[in-house]
Amino acid sequence: MKQSTTPALQFLDDALAEARRQHLLREHRPPETGEGISFCSNDYLALAREVAPPGASGAGASRLLGGDRPVHASLETASARLVGLDQALVFSSGYAANLGLVSCLAGAGDLIVSDELNHGSIIDGVRLSRAERAVYKHADTADLARVLDEAEKHTPPYRRILVITDGVFSMDGDIAPLDEIAGVGPTRVRPGRRAADHGQLHGGNVRSNPWPRRA
Ligand SMILES: Cc1ncc(COP(=O)(O)O)c(C=O)c1O
Repeated sequence: MKQSTTPALQFLDDALAEARRQHLLREHRPPETGEGISFCSNDYLALAREVAPPGASGAGASRLLGGDRPVHASLETASARLVGLDQALVFSSGYAANLGLVSCLAGAGDLIVSDELNHGSIIDGVRLSRAERAVYKHADTADLARVLDEAEKHTPPYRRILVITDGVFSMDGDIAPLDEIAGVGPTRVRPGRRAADHGQLHGGNVRSNPWPRRA
């Protein structure tokens, strides 16, 4: 696992290190091979193992519990290369990605500041995270600044504040002003963190990616 080079994301490295220390870090493992019954799979009748070519019938288990396949790694390597990043993690849907991502980035004691027209998957991700939520007017960076000003006055202070927006709003097709949003967040609240959903998916016009790119 590569380390984050962004100070604002250091907390993720710390959380991973702590999980590793407590032997709680969950890592992808390839499917069990050989004889016997794997109780961590859903492939009770071994059908996934019987069908050729291997893997054509599915992973046989949740990826985390023993369904990790070389094809997953190939897809993620190609995806990362496509967007110029070191690593990628593929989810089976955008909904699952937002549920997984948002609840990793924020938790109890944090505030998530969300565009009022954000996709339902973000809203559900925010609920799952147990962070508090504040909403700013659609694509309105002045209103975002207002909400962040209010947030700074909160007692006790929020542990962290995450600003989250769709990159492309799929109902209306308009594009979030990512550069301006990025300018508002970190100057107001430190450590500032930003997340954009869908920026690269519908993409051509969305040039700004909030995550640091590497050469
Ligand atoms: C901005 C945005 N985020 C997330 C999703 C969810 O993606 P999926 O339909 O793959 O679950 C959508 C779906 O259109 C979307 O427009």
